[in-house]
Amino acid sequence: MNKEYCYPAGESERGVVNADTSLEKNWNILEKNIMDKIVLPYLSDKKHRNLMIDIGAGEGRYTREYGKFFKKIISTEPDRKRSKKITNKGNLPIKVINKKIEDINLGKNKADAIFCIHVLQHVSDKTHEIMLNKATKALKKNGLLILGFTFKTKYFDEYNISWLAKGEKKFTPIPKEIFNLIAERSLKGILPVKKLDKGKLIKKLERKGFVLKEHETYFVDLEGKKLSKLRIFFLDFFSIINQHRILKKLNFDNFIDCILVLKKK
Ligand SMILES: C[S@@+](CC[C@H](N)C(=O)[O-])C[C@H]1O[C@@H](n2cnc3c(N)ncnc32)[C@H](O)[C@@H]1O
Repeated sequence: MNKEYCYPAGESERGVVNADTSLEKNWNILEKNIMDKIVLPYLSDKKHRNLMIDIGAGEGRYTREYGKFFKKIISTEPDRKRSKKITNKGNLPIKVINKKIEDINLGKNKADAIFCIHVLQHVSDKTHEIMLNKATKALKKNGLLILGFTFKTKYFDEYNISWLAKGEKKFTPIPKEIFNLIAERSLKGILPVKKLDKGKLIKKLERKGFVLKEHETYFVDLEGKKLSKLRIFFLDFFSIINQHRILKKLNFDNFIDCILVLKKK
């Protein structure tokens, strides 16, 4: 019998509602601000707001936040504990599917928007492909794909793990094959974290029939070990949103998180 899937996150990992460390709070504030800026303008047209699907919804923060614009919402989350929290707050018409994306039939040409936020970086290469293929198939013409993920820079290797069980948030580089094995098995306390090649991913999605509409990169953890030398102390005096604006103006190019909004042709 298959072992029940359990997302190997620490208590303060993103996607856990009420995360209370300042890093997680800042992350949530900045990411929500960016998502609102680049996603909300596309949700104004009521004709295209029938069905939203959230893949790897965690505890449902984005299901609830953007689900309110849609008539129907399907939220997929394989971790049972997390999936139970999705409908905890509010009374939106959310159908929760407590399965891995591999085991779900999302159907064809029926969704107006699919959200998949911070999931691709934690799954095996094989599951990553399945996610993109199922999302592409399930979206209607003109449907939106909203992807959030961490991406590759010169400061990080592509395949990493984070030893959450040891209380470590830093990344240890590992070979691709080991990453894929760990991601397929979901080992307790070990979080696989892949740094995606943003350019390659955009090209791949264009080949699948998408047009890139919006693209925003950002970075919260300026104290990250490898990046400490980039730290600019005066930034501490500003809110996280203004820090981000200042870094953009300064052409700071070492952001590590990314949100893409793509439209299916
Ligand atoms: C970092 S969390 C992000 C949660 C949510 N999207 C958010 O941003 O709050 C990654 C989520 O992906 C889910 N996940 C992992 N493997 C998956 C799979 N094969 N299919 C669907 N979801 C998966 C995990 O259980 C976890 O809740």
